[in-house]
Amino acid sequence: MRAILFDEHGPIDGLRLGDFPDPVLEPGGCLVRVKAVSLNGFDPMVLRGIPGLKTPFPMIPGADIAGEIVEVGADVSAWRVGQRVAIQPNRPDGMMGETLRGGLCQFLFVPAEFLIAVPDAVGDIEAACLPTAYATAYRMLYTRGRIEAGEKVLILGASGGVGTAAIQLAKRAGCEVVAVTGSGAKVAKLAEIGADHVVDTSRTDYVDFIVETYGKPRTRGPSGGVDVCVNYSGGPTWAECLRAVRRGGRILTCGATAGYDPKTDLRYIWSFEHTILGSNGWTREEHVAMLDLIAAGEIVPVVDRVVPMGEIRAAMRDLAGRRVIGKVVLTVD
Ligand SMILES: NC(=O)c1ccc[n+]([C@@H]2O[C@H](COP(=O)([O-])OP(=O)(O)OC[C@H]3O[C@@H](n4cnc5c(N)ncnc54)[C@H](OP(=O)(O)O)[C@@H]3O)[C@@H](O)[C@H]2O)c1
Repeated sequence: MRAILFDEHGPIDGLRLGDFPDPVLEPGGCLVRVKAVSLNGFDPMVLRGIPGLKTPFPMIPGADIAGEIVEVGADVSAWRVGQRVAIQPNRPDGMMGETLRGGLCQFLFVPAEFLIAVPDAVGDIEAACLPTAYATAYRMLYTRGRIEAGEKVLILGASGGVGTAAIQLAKRAGCEVVAVTGSGAKVAKLAEIGADHVVDTSRTDYVDFIVETYGKPRTRGPSGGVDVCVNYSGGPTWAECLRAVRRGGRILTCGATAGYDPKTDLRYIWSFEHTILGSNGWTREEHVAMLDLIAAGEIVPVVDRVVPMGEIRAAMRDLAGRRVIGKVVLTVD
């Protein structure tokens, strides 16, 4: 079969369209013809190499996969040929596209327990936008962060996959959203997705914007600032964002695009009684809940572009170069 492959950690030029052995149907699972796969912020990171994560070479990237069952193995009664499915990529033995081979190939063998039915109302492209960005945002904002109607939610790195999903989920919950981007070219689109305010950090300091708009966070008396800050950027933004959160506010994190060992400022955490909540991955139920929101028309995934998998190098370059808003979906023939 045809697959997108890389043979060692390195630059984006190392990605190639090549041949890979067809998967073998085994009892307890199904063969899936892959239709569409979306990229995530971690795909260029895995290609470059992430310390502590072991990549099986040759590696196939891609964690978010939609397809159709073409063969059903022995002992499988819950699934039938022709059924449209999504795949649960985070498994007890690793994560597809990270420490297990991913989905940018024509066929996959998938154990039945990792198959998820795609509702008729959800297209292949939409299904392939899940779960990494959308189900992660669902867990971070709803399950872990318990955001509530009327709360002010500040989202850093808002133009990415997790960020656009976070804007949509926070708006759906009735929150007021401040989206932060490093690019003026992304401002109009983030407002169109639903952000109430968009701060372009190439022109405006986002902490100044929060203080001017909602008042200064204070340890006594009425406090300004936002209720919730979503920060998976880390790096220099970590200590900075503490100055924008109200007394008793929450800081939610699921990653560290700009650095995992940032400087912090403990004075803010104790004196403002901030709660820092980590969020990692998602459950099968959260993946299904997101599919249901899309089927109900409550969320429409933000898709930057849909291109054939052979165009992965250009797509990956734009993703790594911050020239993408939302998801890039690759189609597989
Ligand atoms: N723990 C989990 O389960 C989990 C799941 C999914 C993702 N994550 C993590 O969450 C983060 C976001 O993922 P994603 O897929 O949404 O990534 P993405 O699509 O690449 O988006 C990240 C956004 O952050 C901004 N950004 C990029 N590099 C930056 C830098 N050096 N400093 C500050 N901002 C930067 C960019 O926005 P602008 O250009 O508009 O500023 C970009 O659109 C990643 O760190 C990822 O590893 C974790």
